[in-house]
Amino acid sequence: MKLQQLAEEKVSFLITFILVVISVGLLVQIIPLFSTKAVITATEGVKPYTALQVAGRDIYVREGCYNCHSQQIRPFRAETERYGHYSVAGESVYDHPFQWGSKRMGPDLARVGGRYSDEWHRIHLLNPREIVPESNMPAFPWLARNKVNPEEVVSHMKALQMVGTPYTQADFDKAPEELKNKSELDAVIAYLQGLGLALKNKR
Ligand code: HEC
Repeated sequence: MKLQQLAEEKVSFLITFILVVISVGLLVQIIPLFSTKAVITATEGVKPYTALQVAGRDIYVREGCYNCHSQQIRPFRAETERYGHYSVAGESVYDHPFQWGSKRMGPDLARVGGRYSDEWHRIHLLNPREIVPESNMPAFPWLARNKVNPEEVVSHMKALQMVGTPYTQADFDKAPEELKNKSELDAVIAYLQGLGLALKNKR
């Protein structure tokens, strides 16, 4: 039987054949990315998160901020005019998992670092409507009451080291001091204030 006849007469063959063709197409696109320098090396100025930022990032994920906020500026005029330089892969090398997302109930946060003061974030996170009356962002008052747990953060940093973030023993040793008496609110703000600084002033 010829290949063409097989494909036309046997649905199972056709399905398998389509899957093989699509897989090859995808692999050809994906595999080279694993060794493409611009994708796997940190963009100049991108540093591993500090202990407090790691704590803040975990809280960001826990609270589901990504359900309403993307961290991915697309390379279109309308986006770069509003948010700044479009996002590049090298900015996310220390994000495990990355927080790109696509859902934008609220604004993109990829370059929110330095846009507002810490105090602005403090008031906004505790009750967004104090700053933006029509905001539908939930309030997160417990962040101010909860303290971060240094032991937990250090173990997360060790896990990040295992997947390639270049932390050293010295980073683990000084983390508890950095995290002492910090609230979850402090941590989230430290995380937000560090977002997107590397390409902030580029166009
Ligand atoms: C239900 C959707 C929703 C969730 C969940 C949410 N936000 Fe928002 N967020 C919004 C909306 C809408 C705005 C725009 C209005 C405003 O500023 O309050 C916003 C605005 C913001 C801004 C200001 C951005 C700017 O450029 O002006 C920051 C920062 C922010 N959110 C952080 C967070 C963090 C951190 C979390 C998780 C702890 C979170 N948001 C969870 C909807 C959400």
